[in-house]
Amino acid sequence: MRKNLVVAIDGYSSCGKSTLAKALAKKLGFIYIDSGSMYRAVTLFFIRNQVEINNPEAVSDALQHIELNFHSRDYQSHITLNGEEVSEEIRQMPVSETVSEISANKQVRKEMVKQQQRMGKSKNIVMDGRDIGTTVFEDAQVKFFMTADPKIRAERRFKELQTKGDTTTTLEEVFENLAHRDYADTTRVESPLTRADDAIILDNTELTEEEQLNFALEQVQQHLHL
Ligand code: DC
Repeated sequence: MRKNLVVAIDGYSSCGKSTLAKALAKKLGFIYIDSGSMYRAVTLFFIRNQVEINNPEAVSDALQHIELNFHSRDYQSHITLNGEEVSEEIRQMPVSETVSEISANKQVRKEMVKQQQRMGKSKNIVMDGRDIGTTVFEDAQVKFFMTADPKIRAERRFKELQTKGDTTTTLEEVFENLAHRDYADTTRVESPLTRADDAIILDNTELTEEEQLNFALEQVQQHLHL
């Protein structure tokens, strides 16, 4: 039985996992870790260095030249790739369009899972992703599985991109990208996205952020007897 507390949040793309995870971590005083940003940062490295994903030696070599670090400021998770802050760049479309392919790779997953398990070894954490409750921390004390209507998810993501100054990506492109990533994440061979048997389902299609946080907090308090 693990001593430190782990809250695992898995679910589909752009379901608001990170918004909930950040808010929950802040309330609980836990550390927030965004596992998706690690796959995104690796993807950015692979794009920049034209690493061939189907060449195991090239992948292995690339992974040895990647150092990822988180800098938590105000519960916003900032990630650096070999010392460079890449938090903004990894959210842009070139990375979003390639990350499914890179994150389906067995070598990449093995390395990321190893690093994630190390990060959550001794501290209380909230980690969000696709395989946290099923693979990374199967023994997490509380697990959530988040879902929401795909159209609502696309609209939320579209608005977020626009707020960040992306005026070229259309709503249809965002919708297609989400549909593609959902399909790739749920059908891949290596740790596909699936709900852990003991995960609490949270469909937030019609819930405000505050309602989601209250629901999640109640569940965490019940499970952890806080
Ligand atoms: O959470 P996100 O959308 O930023 O994640 C980006 C991609 O990384 C997503 O399409 C699937 C992949 N991912 C994964 O395979 N396993 C995780 N634990 C987290 C993300």
